Amino acid sequence: MSAPGPTVTQRGAVLAERGPGPVRVRLSVNGAEHTLDIEPRVSLLDALRERLDLTGAKKGCDQGTCGACTVWVDGRRALACLTLAISCEGREVTTVEGLAEEGELHEMQRAFIAEDAFQCGYCTPGQIMSAVALIEEGHAGDDAEIKEWMSGNICRCAAYPNIRAAIRAVRDHT
Ligand code: FES
Ligand code: FES
Repeated sequence: MSAPGPTVTQRGAVLAERGPGPVRVRLSVNGAEHTLDIEPRVSLLDALRERLDLTGAKKGCDQGTCGACTVWVDGRRALACLTLAISCEGREVTTVEGLAEEGELHEMQRAFIAEDAFQCGYCTPGQIMSAVALIEEGHAGDDAEIKEWMSGNICRCAAYPNIRAAIRAVRDHT
């Protein structure tokens, strides 16, 4: 049997030993390894946007209510504005920049274009990251379910019907 991982208290003690000034943090983002010297309080969103120049994830509210900053951490949806970058060490972070493969847009990105699922586009990276995860989670059964499980992603342009159309199009092809 493997040894139990650190408790919350132990992990807190480790974090307390690292900081409050800049500490070395290693992040794996879209398959690439990065080493940053950042304060432990820096959010994943700020690390991505301001240190790694990955500006796909957007800062809408910076308090966990709009979903514009949605990325994946170990394949699960996460709000990058509420996630400390240092807590992502040893985990795989995926941003919207990591969706396309060999220059080919992900089918959800193509569906958003085909269905005209955005206007200003500010919410779109977060919508797309949530939409792909939604299907993989098995939560795209019908429109009511899509609405419920996409409810954390706000669109001030109200492109919701088109976003749902894009999700249905991908769902029906997978
Ligand atoms: S910027 Fe993270 S939820 Fe709004
Ligand atoms: S397309 Fe403008 S906020 Fe969603």
